[in-house]
Amino acid sequence: MIRQPAALLSVTLLSLAALAACVPAEPKIPNGAEDYANYCAACHGPSGKGDGVAAKALAKAPANLTTLSAKNGGTFPGTRVMAQIWGYAGAKGRGIMPDFGPMLQGELVPFDGGDGIQTPTPVRLVQLAEYLKTLQAK
Ligand code: HEC
Repeated sequence: MIRQPAALLSVTLLSLAALAACVPAEPKIPNGAEDYANYCAACHGPSGKGDGVAAKALAKAPANLTTLSAKNGGTFPGTRVMAQIWGYAGAKGRGIMPDFGPMLQGELVPFDGGDGIQTPTPVRLVQLAEYLKTLQAK
């Protein structure tokens, strides 16, 4: 009788362990550089200059993504860029830019593109925007 609480506790711990083992591990999501390489580099080029292998075959030249800040008075136009990639990722996925559907999956995190408004945004799109920021010509 005196041992029962301990036995109960170990049963509880065992079932918790069993439960934890059943929860599938969160799949590792690609980082911004990896998503860029997989989804963007074919057109926009490995370093973002718009010179990807598929660029010449397109009716419209892919944008040079390294001059986004320069063309915006030195500030990365985060909100506009996010609207662009998210827009394409959503309804407009059938335009020149491909469907980025998989990047919409996963956690939503607050994203402030520079206008002070925090918008819950798919984490992979946020990582991608952060990565594009690192490509900006100095
Ligand atoms: C199939 C080719 C193709 C792929 C792949 C592609 N893009 Fe584009 N992208 C374009 C073209 C062409 C334009 C310019 C014409 C337009 O606005 O549609 C463009 C425009 C843009 C712009 C707007 C630039 C500006 O000056 O405002 C951004 C930002 C952008 N792409 C980001 C991305 C990102 C990020 C990815 C990867 C997730 C990507 N693109 C994948 C072809 C592509």
